[in-house]
Amino acid sequence: MCGIIGATGTAAAPSFLIEGLHRLEYRGYDSAGLALVEAQGIWRARAAEGTHSVEDLEVLARTAPQGARCGIGHTRWATHGRPSVENAHPHLDCTGRLALVHNGIIENHAELAIGLLDRGHVLASETDTECLAHLVEEAVAEGTRLSRAVVRALSMVRGSFAIAVVHADQPGTIVAARRATPLVVGLTDDVSMLASDIPALLGTTRRLVALEDDQVAVLTPGSLEVATFDGDEIDPTALTVEWDLEAAQKGGYDDFMSKEMHEQPHAVAETLLDRRSPDGTLRLDDLRIDDDQLRSIDRVCIVACGSSYHAAMVAKYAIEHWARLPTEVDIASEFRYRDPVLDQRTLTVGVSQSGETLDTLQALREARRWGSRVLAVSNVVDSSMAREADGVLYTRAGPEIGVASTKCHLAQIVVLELLALTLAQLRGTRTPAQIDAVVRGLHELPDHVAEALAREKEVRDVADTLVGARDFFFLGRGVGFPVALEGALKLKELSYLRAEGYPAGELKHGPIALIEPGTVVVGVATRSPLYEKMLANVAEVASRGATVVLVADDGDDQAAGVADHVLWVPATEAILSPVVGVVPLQILAYQLARRLGNDVDRPRNLAKTVTVE
Ligand code: F6R
Repeated sequence: MCGIIGATGTAAAPSFLIEGLHRLEYRGYDSAGLALVEAQGIWRARAAEGTHSVEDLEVLARTAPQGARCGIGHTRWATHGRPSVENAHPHLDCTGRLALVHNGIIENHAELAIGLLDRGHVLASETDTECLAHLVEEAVAEGTRLSRAVVRALSMVRGSFAIAVVHADQPGTIVAARRATPLVVGLTDDVSMLASDIPALLGTTRRLVALEDDQVAVLTPGSLEVATFDGDEIDPTALTVEWDLEAAQKGGYDDFMSKEMHEQPHAVAETLLDRRSPDGTLRLDDLRIDDDQLRSIDRVCIVACGSSYHAAMVAKYAIEHWARLPTEVDIASEFRYRDPVLDQRTLTVGVSQSGETLDTLQALREARRWGSRVLAVSNVVDSSMAREADGVLYTRAGPEIGVASTKCHLAQIVVLELLALTLAQLRGTRTPAQIDAVVRGLHELPDHVAEALAREKEVRDVADTLVGARDFFFLGRGVGFPVALEGALKLKELSYLRAEGYPAGELKHGPIALIEPGTVVVGVATRSPLYEKMLANVAEVASRGATVVLVADDGDDQAAGVADHVLWVPATEAILSPVVGVVPLQILAYQLARRLGNDVDRPRNLAKTVTVE
């Protein structure tokens, strides 16, 4: 997964492209490059050093030709071919007059490359992408116009792509196309631009359109033509975007992660806004699936990856407990290949911050093939999942730039709990008074999250005592289990320390053998029906010499009695508690990562949006 950017008609193409690449870095930063088009040829610069390739590219771009008004750029997360300058995009064809950037994977690149080599092409990289540049080159050489040459090349590939192509014979034109990978076009009166996502263009325009699968766009200064791959011209649909650029910047914090953790109370409050009718009943406006259809559902399947998967696990408890609907939760990349049993009475919910994660998107497509109704939970308006699903529930967390998900994770739990309560309301499995009580509890969460954040100093003190520890177990039971998994994931991805999340009751069936003096056990011990059992499990590891850190409700002396350190949180009803309990674990991971000198916004080997399998 990578970020692509392009612009034509701007007086300062290099600086526009570099700025856009900075905003796209969360999609990958193994290497970066740009190509500027002039009638005499393509000027290209590429950088691939460490995690700061866009900064390096910026330096190289100082020598770019003055007056270039059209170009494309790319920031890469390596899939085929190591991160290197040779493999960095844009890739050129054999003539050096055509440049191409690509996000996605060309699955049949090896066989295409054999054919290209046979026909005398020279391939200069190990990437799957480069073959596309040469396929377009062949079509152009036969006299095909650039947009149709692109479509012809794409008809030969299997896989996913968002591409942008420029040619020195058409200096003011960019041709773009997509399949299964996002691409947004922005317009002003005299400039046309494109990017992998909306925030990269927000500083310049709010006139945006999203390309759909199998569409090709021709951008010239201030104008856009879109056609299907079959050649039918279409009128693209405009997007509605409420974010401002300010919201996508750091706002005074050291890093995006810190800013985004502190935005969590707001993210939760926004996500809860406006979800009730005047008579007090829950109303999920965006849902687009009517009440009768929802009443006919007899099973829920939730698919997601990473932190979104952990939010989905909390939802399983909520839906089964309140709505009494059997609920399965699946890792999206497993779900789509396991021959799932689904029908029109199954509601399949895809949970995704970006709404673009390929595994989740494909899992939803698979569910649709089986006749299931499909609902997307997305933070990005008009994301691919939001557009393809029958219904959508938006988390309203604002743009999340830090690679490690924080505020979106909390907002996902909240919106999924609203869904669970709405299903309970429709099915009559909870009385209006019971639902009302839970909704009031949900509305208290922003304050509780703010209080948990205000205890940052206490978490910092605990982090100080843990510097040097190498092995961590995160334990929980019931809804505390996904919190433990999320705490472990945050620690792994930010601090690069070994951290295992485990259901506390399962430890004695094997993993307890790993507990020894020096192992840190972080337990989620907020009050719940399993609280006593959780403390008994904690005692089992404490007696084997582990250092015990517990997340516990304010004033819980019993928990404090079995712990070396306590991370206090305001008490909350058990099923809502993950929203608060995960906060000190985010801070702990953040603090340990900073002490180890790691870049918390851009952890190594990761990318924000995973649009490859
Ligand atoms: C972890 C993290 C990832 C994402 C996962 C899914 O901090 O951010 O695990 O949660 O890649 O991404 P989305 O939610 O965009 O589908």
